[in-house]
Amino acid sequence: MAPTETHQFPPPKVLTYHHHQSSSSSPPPTLITQGAEGRLYKTTHLTRDRPCALKYRPPKPYRHPVLDARLTKARLASEAKVLERCRREGVSVPAVYAVDPAAGWMMMEWIEGVPVRVRINAWLGERCGEEDGEEGEEMDETPLVDLMKRVGEAVGALHRTGVVHGDLTTSNMMLRPPPPPPGQVNGREEEDNKAKVLEGEVVLIDFGLATQSMSDEDRAVDLYVLERAFASTHPRAERLFASVLASYRDAFKKASSVLVKLEDVRMRGRKRSMLG
Ligand SMILES: Nc1ncnc2c1ncn2[C@@H]1O[C@H](COP(=O)(O)OP(=O)(O)O)[C@@H](O)[C@H]1O
Ligand SMILES: [Mg+2]
Repeated sequence: MAPTETHQFPPPKVLTYHHHQSSSSSPPPTLITQGAEGRLYKTTHLTRDRPCALKYRPPKPYRHPVLDARLTKARLASEAKVLERCRREGVSVPAVYAVDPAAGWMMMEWIEGVPVRVRINAWLGERCGEEDGEEGEEMDETPLVDLMKRVGEAVGALHRTGVVHGDLTTSNMMLRPPPPPPGQVNGREEEDNKAKVLEGEVVLIDFGLATQSMSDEDRAVDLYVLERAFASTHPRAERLFASVLASYRDAFKKASSVLVKLEDVRMRGRKRSMLG
């Protein structure tokens, strides 16, 4: 029920204020996503040629207003704090430009590109089409394995800083495309692009459920959540998840005890699903 009800709320004041005051040439903010918990706008609020992402958590009519305000404030403040910490430690995350936890918004760097999920599925879909009629021909998975390695490195770097994400999925990672080589002519690079869709930097986003933790257990659960998400979002690439874990091991000194713990977590998961 949440999404439809929150929809009645106008954008946060910080956006409407700017929009009414500024000259007519400034484009209005664009609503990018509307989830159960919040909305994401793309806006040129700060400067006209530098878009930013505004995350807004509107009031929830089904929650007690005092409790709701307190929750929103605490979560946004924590999300901003974790992002700033990651940023300081060199983990690839959006920079935080401004945050007003009481008003329910946070403004951050706009990450070009699309979620990793979209890229992987597009790539797998295309591969599959090519396979038709070419029975038995091995498909070259190198670009996908490479991307998996970058995902593992990103998670390793995150855990190294003492942060667990809490909601690791391929939707909560952006693939920022590499800048085009200088002098490239627009529109003539389509063939090239096909081979390059999986290139780029993995940028972790959506730290609303992140916490600071150094425990093997918490880290293992983080990996487990990603593993399960990966299996359900990309069933055809499930076995490639081993590449994520391999590069996680290389990127993070304390990985081996986390990976031992991951076995336990998986076991518990299986028991739970057997119990129904
Ligand atoms: N900094 C950003 N730059 C560009 N797009 C973003 C950014 N943050 C989020 N998004 C887009 O908005 C979507 C929702 O944001 P997210 O932080 O994951 O919130 P939610 O809690 O709704 O999942 C993401 O999947 C991504 O497509
Ligand atoms: Mg998300």
